Amino acid sequence: MDWETLENECRECRKCPLGNTRKNCVFGTGSKSASLMFVGEAPGADEDKTGIPFVGAAGKHLDRFLEAVGIDRDSVYIANILKCRPPENRDPLPDEQDACIGYLREQVKLIRPKLIVCLGRIAAMRLIDPDFRITKSHGTVYKRGAFLISAVYHPSALLRDPRKNEDMYRDMKKIKLLLDSTSDEVTPIQR
Ligand code: URA
Repeated sequence: MDWETLENECRECRKCPLGNTRKNCVFGTGSKSASLMFVGEAPGADEDKTGIPFVGAAGKHLDRFLEAVGIDRDSVYIANILKCRPPENRDPLPDEQDACIGYLREQVKLIRPKLIVCLGRIAAMRLIDPDFRITKSHGTVYKRGAFLISAVYHPSALLRDPRKNEDMYRDMKKIKLLLDSTSDEVTPIQR
């Protein structure tokens, strides 16, 4: 599938009830040839209003870390598991994730990133392991077929608990190192 067809399909989507309550479909933004892709959970109010992922308080906090480790936001691709906002920002339901995940799969196929970084527990549980424990396994890099995958704390969790900022900085530095390296400076776990 090409980008235009995929994006149009997503913007018209009514596969789950969130299609009836969204202001905007938050498809994804950034470089379509990115070697790094971030995947969050679902759009919040600011994202629903603008149609752009991670533009609210959590997004601004993510931007701080990108800048701190020297990653240009325009050089990465940012998307979410859900493309539409759940009411009151509740956790995405399994049925909503099942309905929506195909769009993300197509995005990954088109971009073919070197590394996918899950932002928070929900994305990590969907993309890495249903039993993923973010406190224990943030920053661990796994190999999945053609790409590497890792998870870091969700920026909203960092805003709630700034003691986690230090871990986030360390994980983001590792991600930057991995991106810049040609091979084995960071050894991923084979699974
Ligand atoms: N939180 C997310 O998980 N995604 C967004 O796009 C914004 C906030």
